[in-house]
Amino acid sequence: MKILMVCLGNICRSPLAHGILAHIVKREGLVWEIDSAGTGDWHVGQAPDRRSIAVAQHHGIDISKQRAQHFTPILFQRYDRILVMDQQNYKDVLSLASNEEDKNKVALFIPNDMVPDPYYDNNLFLPVFQLIENRCKELISELQEQ
Ligand code: 4NP
Repeated sequence: MKILMVCLGNICRSPLAHGILAHIVKREGLVWEIDSAGTGDWHVGQAPDRRSIAVAQHHGIDISKQRAQHFTPILFQRYDRILVMDQQNYKDVLSLASNEEDKNKVALFIPNDMVPDPYYDNNLFLPVFQLIENRCKELISELQEQ
């Protein structure tokens, strides 16, 4: 299973989703490939936001070595699932799909809901971590059943 997590900047939410899912997958002994990308390119090559690094570190997960990449259409070919953090990410990623197969890979990370962007609010990093962690646990079970 190859999963790509996508948000806007690829420095706050998707690096957490990437790091948390990779952590659980490794603990469960699964051989899945997890990565992340941003629909915007402003932060390409940068490490995650220091607040995301800190909240993950606090929970025993090191995301400091991740580097931001821009979401480009080639990534449709590399991943089985492209999980997006909010409805705008969903529109932006779908606009780059060139066929039904690409489109079918894209889904909201939390069905019918969004992961709020914590970039402008320091107090959101912990609840966002918890939201993503809970969804990652569900996701592992859902994907293993398929
Ligand atoms: P992310 O958060 O999409 O969760 O990585 C953001 C990071 C940076 C910006 C916006 C959102 N920005 O405007 O630079």
